[in-house]
Amino acid sequence: MPTPHLTVRSGHPDFLDLPWDRPMTGWEHRRRIDLPKGISRHEVQFYGYAQGIYAIKELPLAAARQEYTVLRALEDLEAPSVVPVGLVERPWVDASEEWSAAVITVYLNHAFSYRELLSGAGFGARRNQMLDAFAGLLVELHLLGCYWGDCSLSNVLYRYDAEAIQVTMVDGETAEVRPALSDGQRRDDIEIMIVNVAGGMADIAAASGRDIDEADLALGEAIAERYHALWAEVTRLEVLHPSERYRIQGRIAAINQLGFEVGDLDLVPEEGGSRLRLHLAVTGRTYHRHRLRELTGVDASEHQARQILADLHYYEAGLRERGPVDKTLAAIRWRVEVFEPLLRRLQELPHRRTEDPVQAYTDFLHYRFVAAVEAGRDIGNDAAFDAWVAAGQPGYPLA
Ligand SMILES: Nc1ncnc2c1ncn2[C@@H]1O[C@H](COP(=O)(O)OP(=O)(O)OP(=O)(O)O)[C@@H](O)[C@H]1O
Ligand SMILES: [Mg+2]
Repeated sequence: MPTPHLTVRSGHPDFLDLPWDRPMTGWEHRRRIDLPKGISRHEVQFYGYAQGIYAIKELPLAAARQEYTVLRALEDLEAPSVVPVGLVERPWVDASEEWSAAVITVYLNHAFSYRELLSGAGFGARRNQMLDAFAGLLVELHLLGCYWGDCSLSNVLYRYDAEAIQVTMVDGETAEVRPALSDGQRRDDIEIMIVNVAGGMADIAAASGRDIDEADLALGEAIAERYHALWAEVTRLEVLHPSERYRIQGRIAAINQLGFEVGDLDLVPEEGGSRLRLHLAVTGRTYHRHRLRELTGVDASEHQARQILADLHYYEAGLRERGPVDKTLAAIRWRVEVFEPLLRRLQELPHRRTEDPVQAYTDFLHYRFVAAVEAGRDIGNDAAFDAWVAAGQPGYPLA
């Protein structure tokens, strides 16, 4: 067969067993896995290997190169985007042909598209969360200098993440990463999003036989509104009196409520020295995740990590009552004595509410917290676990 140019990153399969001499629409391969996916112009298929599941998208050469480059740049910036694994170029095919190239990404587990989200009974209650997560994704990308150019409902994937819904950028063909974006570029991106989202909602209404009037056509505008509020909060500079330090806390809480973290605080004396200038640096949404991995080696998503770190602090506080505590040692002991045994118990449960054990762990932590508040005292893990299972393993209230 003619030879494709395959650029594949280490730690992944070489993908040479796939029939690259033909367009993907004609492929029949034992590794192919049929999984739900969003609407797309291009052919997207999923393949299972020992290393994991991969998404392969076929598209013209220039678009494929652009997408691969952008996804690599976003990965370096730790943006919430799918992880690129390989670029396939088929030089014997005319470069403008749909099948002249392909981009391979890591399949995003436990994710679902907006269609599935909207078709669930609870969407009404989850609408606000979805809008927050969507707006947060855009703010984060813009802070990193990423102009998307095609932000839409099917170009993001949603994932339950402890009490929130997280979104991941999945389609980067039109995107560009720059040192910073101008206000005009951000405005353009938001306008494209509003039009795309309205189109997506109209499609959903049509597909389910509803009138266009019933479609939630203002969804994009609602996302834009949240985007502007979040952007303003995150990038605002504030001047404080020395006696007003408590306001720093309020500021952090406001940003946390909008789904972001504050990594650093700089208190810079202003001219005259009587007032302080507060400058917020925002770390993005990976702070707890990194901290948890660094301390314990446990991989979790951001919201899960926030809950799990709280569990670690809770455990540490218990140790401290008995004497001085070394942080590193406490983290290892927590993992061996608390986390791993509980994960095993969760995996042994005959009827599991979720297949994601870390999510189940955070559901349990939430239950234990609520139970302790109700009881007015700490509840031990064993008693809380039995009660949680007896109560049907309730998860986070998503409303
Ligand atoms: N890495 C991945 N993990 C999980 N699902 C994926 C992945 N990549 C793609 N998908 C699924 O395939 C769908 C189409 O992918 P994508 O949006 O990249 O294709 P596209 O043809 O470029 O779309 P568009 O029509 O917006 O240009 C997505 O909505 C998503 O459901
Ligand atoms: Mg797409």
